Amino acid sequence: MKRILVTGALGQIGSELVTKLRDIYGSSNVIATDIKELPGVKEQGPFEKLDVTDPQRMFDVAKEYNVDTVMHLAALLSATAEKMPKVAWDINMGGLVNALEVARELDLQFFTPSSIGAFGPSTPKDNTPQDTLQRPTTMYGVNKVSGELLCDYYYHRYGVDTRGVRYPGLISYVAPPGGGTTDYAVEIYYEAIKNKSYTSYIGEGTYMDMMYMPDALNAIVQLMEADADKLEHRNAFNISAISAAPEDFAKAIQKHIPEFSISYEVDPVRQKIADSWPNSIDSSAATKEWGFKADYDIDAMTKEMLEKIAEKVK
Ligand SMILES: NC(=O)c1ccc[n+]([C@@H]2O[C@H](COP(=O)([O-])OP(=O)(O)OC[C@H]3O[C@@H](n4cnc5c(N)ncnc54)[C@H](O)[C@@H]3O)[C@@H](O)[C@H]2O)c1
Repeated sequence: MKRILVTGALGQIGSELVTKLRDIYGSSNVIATDIKELPGVKEQGPFEKLDVTDPQRMFDVAKEYNVDTVMHLAALLSATAEKMPKVAWDINMGGLVNALEVARELDLQFFTPSSIGAFGPSTPKDNTPQDTLQRPTTMYGVNKVSGELLCDYYYHRYGVDTRGVRYPGLISYVAPPGGGTTDYAVEIYYEAIKNKSYTSYIGEGTYMDMMYMPDALNAIVQLMEADADKLEHRNAFNISAISAAPEDFAKAIQKHIPEFSISYEVDPVRQKIADSWPNSIDSSAATKEWGFKADYDIDAMTKEMLEKIAEKVK
C-alpha cells in the first residue's frame, strides 16, 4: 500500500483517514475524492471530484494517479438510507461494484467498511459471533451484507485483495457524523459542552457497539498491512471497543461535568434500527488474524472528546 485512492474522503471517516494516511505514506500518495468539494481541500494534497456511480471517471482517476490501493468509503448511512432506500441501493451497491471493478481491472488492493448494521433481529444480540445469522431488515443492512459477499466474490473469483471490517458506531470530534443510528453518541458530547444537557433520540437501555475514531483508523492501516495468508475472514471482521447505552455516556460525562443531565425523546425510526442491531459484538477473529486491539474505552474517549470539543466551540 503506497499510493491510495480514497472515495467519500470528505465524510466522517475519510476526513481523518486521509490525514493519517498522508502522515504515513506521504501527501502526494493519497488521492482524496468525493462527490462534493470543500474550501481549502485541494491545498492539503491531491483531490478530485468523483461520483462513485460514474465507473469511467473512477477508472480514469485511479489510472491517472497510478494508485495501487482503493479505500472505498462513499455510501449513504443507515438513517439516511432508510429515508431513501432506492437511492441508497444505487450509491451503496452501484458505487461498490464500480470500485471493485476498478480494483480488478488495475489489480489494486481494496478496502471497504461493513457495519454492525449487517446484523439483524434474528442475530444473537450479546457477544455476537464473527460467523452468525445475518438477516438485516434495513436497506443499509441489506447493502452491507451484499457488500461483504460481493467483496468475498471478487477475492475468490478474480483474486482481488479485498479486506474490510464491520465497524460499530464511530465517535469523533473532527467531522460531523453522516446520518447513522449511533450519531447521538457524538451529539451528546457537543450538547454536554454547550448546554450541559442532552435529549437522546435513542432510548435508555439500548446498547450498541461504539469505537473512538483513532482506533477505527488504526484498524484500517493494520488490516491493510496484515499478512494476507493469515486472513480467513477477509471482508467482514467484527471489531468493537465499547458496548454502551445512552445512560453510560451520560455517566462518563458526569465524571467531568457533574451537572450534566440526559432526557429521552425516542425517534421510532432510529430506535427500530438500533433494536435490530447487536448489544455487543465479539472481535476475537480480528484479534487472532491480524492483531486488532482498541486503545480507548468509554472513559478515555470521553475525557478526550470533552477536551477537544471544548477547544473547538470556544
Ligand atoms: N461512521 C460510522 O459510524 C460508520 C459505522 C459503520 C460503517 N461505516 C461505513 O464507513 C463508510 C464511510 O462512512 P462515513 O461515516 O465516513 O460516512 P459519511 O456519510 O460521513 O461520508 C460519506 C461521504 O461519501 C460522500 N458521497 C456520498 N455519495 C457519494 C457519491 N455518489 N460519490 C462519491 N462520494 C459520495 C459524501 O459526500 C460523504 O463525504 C461507509 O461505507 C459507512 O457505511 C461508518
